[in-house]
Amino acid sequence: MAPYMQEQQVSFLPSLPEEKQGFLVSKSSVNYEPGHTPVEAHDDYQFDRLRPRFPNVHWPALAEVPYVDKGLFGHPSSSNLLKIATEVVDYAPKIGTEITGIKLRSLTDAQRNDLARLVATRGVVIFRGQDDFDIDAQRELGSYFGTLHKHATTSVPLQEGLEDVHVIFMEGTKDMRAMFTKPFLWHSDVTYELQPLAYTSLKLLSGPPQGGGGDTLWCSQYAAYDALSPLMQQFLEKLTALHSAKMQADGSRAFGRTVRREPIVTEHPLVRTHPVTGWKSLFFNPGFVTAIKGVPKTESDHIISYLTEIVSTTYEAQARFQLRKDDVAVWDNRICNHTATYGFAPHRRHAVRVACHGERPVFDPAGTSQEDDYCARYGLPQINKDCTGLANYND
Ligand SMILES: [Fe+2]
Repeated sequence: MAPYMQEQQVSFLPSLPEEKQGFLVSKSSVNYEPGHTPVEAHDDYQFDRLRPRFPNVHWPALAEVPYVDKGLFGHPSSSNLLKIATEVVDYAPKIGTEITGIKLRSLTDAQRNDLARLVATRGVVIFRGQDDFDIDAQRELGSYFGTLHKHATTSVPLQEGLEDVHVIFMEGTKDMRAMFTKPFLWHSDVTYELQPLAYTSLKLLSGPPQGGGGDTLWCSQYAAYDALSPLMQQFLEKLTALHSAKMQADGSRAFGRTVRREPIVTEHPLVRTHPVTGWKSLFFNPGFVTAIKGVPKTESDHIISYLTEIVSTTYEAQARFQLRKDDVAVWDNRICNHTATYGFAPHRRHAVRVACHGERPVFDPAGTSQEDDYCARYGLPQINKDCTGLANYND
């Protein structure tokens, strides 16, 4: 959930008189409708109990919870999990894998450990066709990985007792995309928490058909770190950043909604080391980082601006997927930023997200670089970071 993004319900093209709609159609010489049909009817909607509500309750500040990363117990090749897949397709070298043939509901503990290890390595993994992975199974899997997070401001399901589920529900929703710059909307969820989220799952209950929009993009923060020069890496490794929940809380209050837990500001290292892979990653997101500690404000502002550009424009670090009904994305929120696309009306987009707290972020200088590991393992050339030598355009 991006900071300050709250939905308003408005109807889709409700008030145009018939003759006006006809006029619009008749003036156009284009009849091709990309991804706009069919529009699913929801007369007897199966997931009404998972529609959103904003409960008027108050929770105490979060206390520290124990966390042991299940990925540490996974097979190095995630072979317990991958051997039952019918197809495994990588999206890009640094991020994103799409898997078919696996039912998340039926995984053994060894396969769950492999799942954690795979997600820690690939950033985001997509599982198609998870029709039997209901909200109870989703919460059970999340609880296997750690303590589930309860969001302080965003919507929870209508059904009581599911306050650790975050609901996305958009249908004829007023489009907010003009309120923010696109780079600002890149974020990892609730990084202001003392123990920001680790393994996160998002299941689509209802969504646009293929080509109907509503894609989600993820950006690997291993790859973002590896896009930096060694000197910049060393500089940022010495710094910390402030992550603030205040803007999100202020946004909720502006809409008259209850902030269920008081907002906090937390200092985290700007580079962290992953406990499973041992790789260093940038731990920065434009949505919640408000300042870099220990440097003048001018430097802080420029570092934020610079890293925002790295996250939003390092395309080799990014993967883009459209989740359709019953698809599930599992990502590691510690080492991924994500952002969503808009413009999928008239379709309903309804999804539920479950996530566990990870460890308190740690920078371990003994950590390694994903890029260096891959270069050594596959004999790849080092990235040209000093701008020397010949270069060609790539189209
Ligand atoms: Fe999010």
